[in-house]
Amino acid sequence: MKGFVMDLLAAAKEVREHAHAPYSNFKVGAAIRSKSGAIFTGCNVENVAYPEGTCAEAGAIAAMVAAGETEIAEALVVADSPQPVSPCGGCRQKLAEFSAGDVRVTMTTLAGKTEVLTMSQLLPGAFNKEHMEGS
Ligand code: THU
Repeated sequence: MKGFVMDLLAAAKEVREHAHAPYSNFKVGAAIRSKSGAIFTGCNVENVAYPEGTCAEAGAIAAMVAAGETEIAEALVVADSPQPVSPCGGCRQKLAEFSAGDVRVTMTTLAGKTEVLTMSQLLPGAFNKEHMEGS
């Protein structure tokens, strides 16, 4: 893993410890570096009414937007899974709202198995505001 992603990894691992995941027992941590260089983190927050749970990525995005930032420079997701965790479909769309196509998303496991994909690879053909032009 490249050196500059290690700070995101440390932040994501730390916030993952706070995940509220009593139903899946699957804790996820996410960290975003915004264009300003600041790091924002989030963990999954499950709910007894299962569909009300939120993903780690959603938490990190909410923290970034609450701080007044709207541009993602890079993102990282970590879980204790056999394979690097792949952001769910909804989170890909949420990340795409604030990311250019070349933004790198690092997916990694606690054991260090890592995969890096760009936003366009994660969500090819994403629905975006150009699709609504003229409406
Ligand atoms: N989860 C995330 O937080 N992010 C992902 O990228 C994949 C899945 C959470 C949602 C739920 O709390 C748990 O992992 C199991 O699906």
